[in-house]
Amino acid sequence: MKIAILISGRGTNLQALIDADKEEKLSGKIVVVISDNSEAYGLERAKKAFIPIEVLKEEEEISRKLKELGVDLVVLAGFMKMLSEEFVKERKNAIINIHPSLLPSFKGLNAQKQAIDYGVKVSGCTTHFVDEGMDTGPIILQKEVEIEKNETVETLSNKILAEEHKMLVKTVELFCNEKLIVEGRKVIIKE
Ligand code: GRF
Repeated sequence: MKIAILISGRGTNLQALIDADKEEKLSGKIVVVISDNSEAYGLERAKKAFIPIEVLKEEEEISRKLKELGVDLVVLAGFMKMLSEEFVKERKNAIINIHPSLLPSFKGLNAQKQAIDYGVKVSGCTTHFVDEGMDTGPIILQKEVEIEKNETVETLSNKILAEEHKMLVKTVELFCNEKLIVEGRKVIIKE
């Protein structure tokens, strides 16, 4: 399985995948890291791991690159641009996103702040296939994190992030081993 990772920023989730790849815990291969932001620190992480990088701002250019490389799986790891309906339809159930809340709660930006402001006692993270909506696609894995009395956006984000790293590697692994079956909104995980 050829994997492309799309980022816009610091890339700690990307790092988790790079580390898993290094430790040969990943059945797929990361063939490219694409950023829409030339300043993204994640690009440095990819360079250090000798993974080819591309800075591409237009979706058409991204699409062309993915086809050229014969990519099987696209992972959005902190990629901040919304993808078009056309892009998503062309890659049905082959784009995975990670989101820092228990979807369908707190979609969109600043999910950790949304959770704290709402007063929920539990939040967490979710991996899902990307469909045409914003954070609406079929859910793959979720993990809860408790929100404690003095929780701040920062402490909650850090707690969630630690879970994200494990969950994203696990999700990519399930995909690469063809363990994910999508039936409508539901993702069935094969034993
Ligand atoms: C993560 O919280 C992820 O869930 C969200 O964007 C953040 C990216 O962090 N989509 P990083 O760039 O992987 O450190």
